Amino acid sequence: MNQIKHFIGVSVLVAILTAGIGFGLQSAMQNGYLLPPLASRQGVEIDWLFGIHFWVIAFLFSLIAGFMLYSIVVFRQKKGEEKDGRHFEGHAGLEVMWTIIPLAMVVFFAYLGGDSLAKVTAVNPTAIRVNVIGRQWEWSFDYPEYGVSSTVLVLPVNHQTLLRLRATDVIHSFWVPEFRVKQDLLPGGEVRDLRITPTVIGDYKVRCAELCGIKHALMEADVRILSRADFDRWMQEEIAKDPCKIGDSVGCGRKLAQENGCLACHSIDGTRIIGPTWLGVFGSEETMTDGSTIIVDEAYIIESIRDPGAKIVQGYENLMPATAGQNLTDEQLQDIIAFIESLK
Ligand code: CUA
Repeated sequence: MNQIKHFIGVSVLVAILTAGIGFGLQSAMQNGYLLPPLASRQGVEIDWLFGIHFWVIAFLFSLIAGFMLYSIVVFRQKKGEEKDGRHFEGHAGLEVMWTIIPLAMVVFFAYLGGDSLAKVTAVNPTAIRVNVIGRQWEWSFDYPEYGVSSTVLVLPVNHQTLLRLRATDVIHSFWVPEFRVKQDLLPGGEVRDLRITPTVIGDYKVRCAELCGIKHALMEADVRILSRADFDRWMQEEIAKDPCKIGDSVGCGRKLAQENGCLACHSIDGTRIIGPTWLGVFGSEETMTDGSTIIVDEAYIIESIRDPGAKIVQGYENLMPATAGQNLTDEQLQDIIAFIESLK
């Protein structure tokens, strides 16, 4: 009889704690204390899973803390009590229970996870394609269906986008917290897919969620979700102002330098970052690590892009990825040189 009393007492305590912590976590989630407001269709699944997990977390915490609290108070050593408590060894029923129940729960959650993954990756054949490149420490976004490249990710609302992600140097990770879903970008040519259907017009930020070097924390890009009409207008403007399509060599070189991440390491205003600044570098005399001097001309710049380690300016270390200039055509190199030459 006494045992049942304790059992009921501890059950009530665990139930109260579970309800308090569970509702607390749910309301913290709804009020944006745990995650920023949801802004994608895929994120609905993720938040639903979070919601269930919060209840499991609340229950498990309460189960342990509730039993502990109850025991500390009710089974404490009372005045005059000097003997040890009763000794128990093993309880087959209990052991079977605490093996079977967690096993069933883990299997159930594996099912929920698989089911949610299927929904989050569901394919819409009309999705807009965007090729995303992550590199130390910048993002660039190509719209192959439009022939447009951008350093800002602009997408229409309520339309699925298929992001095809890859990295050129080390592992990065694409993450817009409001969209919930996240995907690593791998170097070595492997392309990973991520599908996002934004649901709220507004401005967001891509963050890199994988430690990728000294400027990892600054590896961000703007994301703009527009209405379909605004998106189409933006796209038309991008197409019309592309300097590479209207024969503006200096402008095209600037665009290529941005898109290929050159400007993350080479400033154009004289500041020293990772590599030598481009301001006034064309035609200047530079001392190399081996003590020789060279005049910065077209041939030297081409060599430095195609084979970054060939000649290093004194006082610098070569941190430029060997792959940096691999995808640039000879014409594109000429445009970049024209841009560097214009920086006086
Ligand atoms: Cu890229 Cu961290």
